Amino acid sequence: MTVVYYLLLFLHFVGWAIVLGGTVTNIREPKLANGVLHGALTALVAGILMTGVAEMADGLPELNYVKIGIKLVVAAVITALVIVAGRRKDGPSSGLIGAIAALTTLNVAIAALWR
Ligand code: HEM
Repeated sequence: MTVVYYLLLFLHFVGWAIVLGGTVTNIREPKLANGVLHGALTALVAGILMTGVAEMADGLPELNYVKIGIKLVVAAVITALVIVAGRRKDGPSSGLIGAIAALTTLNVAIAALWR
């Protein structure tokens, strides 16, 4: 289970890195990079599975469910904004792409700094 947990954590990091990289580099000339929706969904599903695995198996980190809950709400908003950005016929605005990048950065801060 430990291997599964850390493989999921790896996918979680790669997924959010795709979302952040694919948006922060495209704020000035706004567009949604290919793969951002897949990155968000992969990271979201990996996070949810990790939470279950950590609860089931011994020897894995104790989870802070308030922190996870807040991250889940923010991640749901991010995913919704990515879907909206992908559907805009005239392309997404800088504000929309910037909001996705900012919320992802906020969640990295919550994940890393809240102990
Ligand atoms: C934009 C959204 C998210 C970002 C940027 C993010 C980022 C991170 C980061 C940087 C870590 C490593 C923290 C550390 O090891 O000290 C982490 C860990 C983790 N994340 Fe996320 N995460 C997000 C959303 C979620 C969601 C939605 C869930 C589950 C519903 C989740 C579940 C977890 C779990 C279980 C861990 C490992 C244990 C912990 O550090 O709390 N994450 N995440």
